Amino acid sequence: RLEKIWLIFGISMLGLFLTVVGVGAFALGMEPPGDHRHTVDPEKLSTTAPFDKPGLKQIGDQEYEANLVAFAFGYSPDQMEIPLGAKVHFQITSQDVVHGFQVNGTNINMMVVPGEVNRLTYTFTKPGEYLVLCNEYCGAAHEVMMMKIVVK
Ligand code: CUA
Repeated sequence: RLEKIWLIFGISMLGLFLTVVGVGAFALGMEPPGDHRHTVDPEKLSTTAPFDKPGLKQIGDQEYEANLVAFAFGYSPDQMEIPLGAKVHFQITSQDVVHGFQVNGTNINMMVVPGEVNRLTYTFTKPGEYLVLCNEYCGAAHEVMMMKIVVK
């Protein structure tokens, strides 16, 4: 009789344990709040925000989103003006093949993958012109694929 109670208790605890682990795993698998988009259809960039209107977008006091689309062989937009000292959340994707996004004079160096949105937050602390280069071989005109960031 007592054994049966302990058996039921044990099974209940095991069930509870598995539930907690399951819920925990589910919670870990979930995306952080406010961040619902890690993938994007490269065929539908022209109708998918924010890539339908690439460019710099103010989202707060001294805080911006820099939305960019890479393609063979360039970036949209091909020039971006960024306020000095502002926190910039880069979000970039590719509309065709894998490209790179390397900003000279900074540690910004991202792979740009079709179907994925790559993110990086950066604050420019020096004014000037920054050359952005593609550092993943992407075809015949890879060498000339570039854009410019102007910080002021
Ligand atoms: Cu794009 Cu190399």
